[in-house]
Amino acid sequence: METVLTTSPPLAAQFIRRGEVVAFPTETVYGLGANVFDEAAIRKIFQAKGRPTDNPLIAHVANLAQLQTLTTHLPANAAQLIAAFFPGPLTLVLPKHPDVSLLATAGLPTIGVRMPRHALALEFITACGVPLVAPSANLSGRPSPTTWQAVQADLDGRIACILQGEQAEVGLESTVVDCTGNAPVVLRAGALTLEQLQTVLPASRLASQHDVAVPKSPGLKYRHYSPQARVVLIDNVAGLSASLAAAFIGLNAPPRRDEFRCLKLCANVAEYAHEVFSFFRVCDAAGVREIYCEVVEERGLGLALMDRLKRAAQNVAPA
Ligand code: TXA
Ligand code: MG
Repeated sequence: METVLTTSPPLAAQFIRRGEVVAFPTETVYGLGANVFDEAAIRKIFQAKGRPTDNPLIAHVANLAQLQTLTTHLPANAAQLIAAFFPGPLTLVLPKHPDVSLLATAGLPTIGVRMPRHALALEFITACGVPLVAPSANLSGRPSPTTWQAVQADLDGRIACILQGEQAEVGLESTVVDCTGNAPVVLRAGALTLEQLQTVLPASRLASQHDVAVPKSPGLKYRHYSPQARVVLIDNVAGLSASLAAAFIGLNAPPRRDEFRCLKLCANVAEYAHEVFSFFRVCDAAGVREIYCEVVEERGLGLALMDRLKRAAQNVAPA
C-alpha cells in the first residue's frame, strides 16, 4: 500500500472514515490511530505494528463528550485529574463502556483514555468525529517515534496515511494511571510526573510489587524502546572510554568526547527525554554498536526517562 503523507487533518480523517489506520502527532510521541468503534480497523493496528494482541490500546479523545462514550462512569478521582490535567500527557484507566470492543482493551474490563495537548491531534480527532485508539506508531519493540520521519522509517507501505507535524514536544509517552481503585496508581511512569499528580491527589502512588502480581498494564512485560545497538546505562561518565563504535547521550560530557561516533549532550532532563528516542534511531542509522546512556535521578520526568532507558537496556525483570 502507498502511504500518503499530508499536513491536512481533514484529509487524514477521510482515511479513518474508510476504516484505515493513520499515524498522527501528539505532544508525547506519534500515535497510530483507528476508529475505536471499528474492529476491522483496530486489527490493522496490531498487524501494521506486529503488536501482540494481549497489549491494550489507549483511546484518544478531543472532548469530554467523546470520553463519555467510552466509559460507564467517571470515578471521583478521575474527574479531579481530568479537571487538572486534560488535555495533557495523562492516560486514565477507567471502567469500559460495553460498546467498546474487547479487541481494543485486550479483553480487559477497563479502557485507557487520554486527551492530547496538541492542536493538530485535536483537530484531527475532531475531524474524525470518533475517539481513536492509538498505540505509539513504531514497529513493536522499536524506539517510539518522535518525528513523522521515524514513523515513515518503521511503517511506510504498512499504513494508509501519516499526518505530518513537528517533532514531539515531550518525547516520552503519557503517564498511565489506574483510576478504578481508591487512590490513583501509576501503571506506567510518563510525561506527567508523580509529583504533579500528588499536587491534586496526594494519595497517588506508583504501582508496587504487590500490584504487579496482577499485570495491570500488560504492555510493560514486553521488550521495548530498543535500538539495534546495545544500550548500556552508566553513572560514572568520567570513567567512560571513548570508541568509534560507540555513542553517548547524557547530561555530563565524557572524556575524549570527539572520539564517539555519535554524542548528544543535553542541558537538562527535559531535553534528554525530548531527544533520547530520536538519538537511538540516529545511532542505528550510523551503525553504532553500543549506546552509553547516563543515568539520571528517578524523580520528576527522570522517573519516566529511567524507566525507558532500563527497558531499552533490558534491565527489567521479565513479567
Ligand atoms: O503517549 C502515549 O501514551 C502514546 C501516544 C500515542 O498517545 N501512546 C502509547 O501507547 O504509548 P502504547 O500502546 O505504546 O502504550 C500503551 C500502554 C501500554 O503499556 C498498555 O499496556 C497500557 O498503556 N494500557 C492501555 N490500556 C490499558 C488498560 N486498560 N489497563 C492497563 N494498562 C493499559
Ligand atoms: Mg509503545
